[in-house]
Amino acid sequence: MAKRIDVKDLNIYYGKFHAVSDVSLTVLPRSVTAFIGPSGCGKSTVLRALNRMHEVTPSARVEGAVLLDGEDIYGATIDPVGVRRTIGMVFQRPNPFPTMSIRDNVVAGLKLQGVRGKKELEEVAERSLRGANLWNEVKDRLDKPGGGLSGGQQQRLCIARAIAISPDVLLMDEPCSALDPISTLAIEDLISELKKEFTIVIVTHNMQQAARVSDQTAFFNLEAQGKPGKLIEIDETEKIFSNPSQKSTEDYISGRFG
Ligand SMILES: Nc1ncnc2c1ncn2[C@@H]1O[C@H](COP(=O)(O)OP(=O)(O)OP(=O)(O)O)[C@@H](O)[C@H]1O
Ligand SMILES: [Mg+2]
Repeated sequence: MAKRIDVKDLNIYYGKFHAVSDVSLTVLPRSVTAFIGPSGCGKSTVLRALNRMHEVTPSARVEGAVLLDGEDIYGATIDPVGVRRTIGMVFQRPNPFPTMSIRDNVVAGLKLQGVRGKKELEEVAERSLRGANLWNEVKDRLDKPGGGLSGGQQQRLCIARAIAISPDVLLMDEPCSALDPISTLAIEDLISELKKEFTIVIVTHNMQQAARVSDQTAFFNLEAQGKPGKLIEIDETEKIFSNPSQKSTEDYISGRFG
């Protein structure tokens, strides 16, 4: 549970395009790290490289190392499917299987892993839905389709699905961007709960959200269009939002650009 991530000299390319240059950072166990920065600076690209999700994009290529508790997830003997089991991901738009029941949505990953026992699947579904703070809202309609939930409920359903396979790390790419303010606060509360158990990295365009939920914040920026995105600085969230080391960070968080 809750492992440390060390990213070393990460360079990411899409074909010949150098999207992200020389990113190194550390994420401590049981903490929340926020990635902020203007559109196109490579936040999602770096996030996807943390669980090898970029490998579903044929042109994408990663150089450098991502260590999970000292072991390189890009190591020759490492299975990417296993990596994604250890490092789960929640996407920007809730993407439950719409016609599948709420319960089956939660345990879909476990079923793929070959878990068949009805009792075990029911237990994991309940535990995960409780963990995602959705249980009370859906416990009487577990056999109804996941597509029938509200947007905020669907996003929590996707979080339940992600935690059902007991990952160590949860990656979230703008998980609240499709949600109303109340659902957003529900997810933020949930993130604060989840960090007791998981290591969390979240991409957000919402500065208040980064300030509210994260322990450390990484600011990424682009020098110019066509140039690779860079990590400008990473520090305790309080420091980034009160007294950042770099002028471009200050300009960004105070809304002078981006
Ligand atoms: N599949 C892809 N193929 C080619 N180029 C890509 C691909 N995905 C991203 N890029 C490019 O890589 C750069 C970084 O994109 P990325 O999506 O990581 O930015 P981002 O910081 O997440 O932006 P946003 O805030 O808009 O989500 C951009 O120039 C983008 O156009
Ligand atoms: Mg993005």
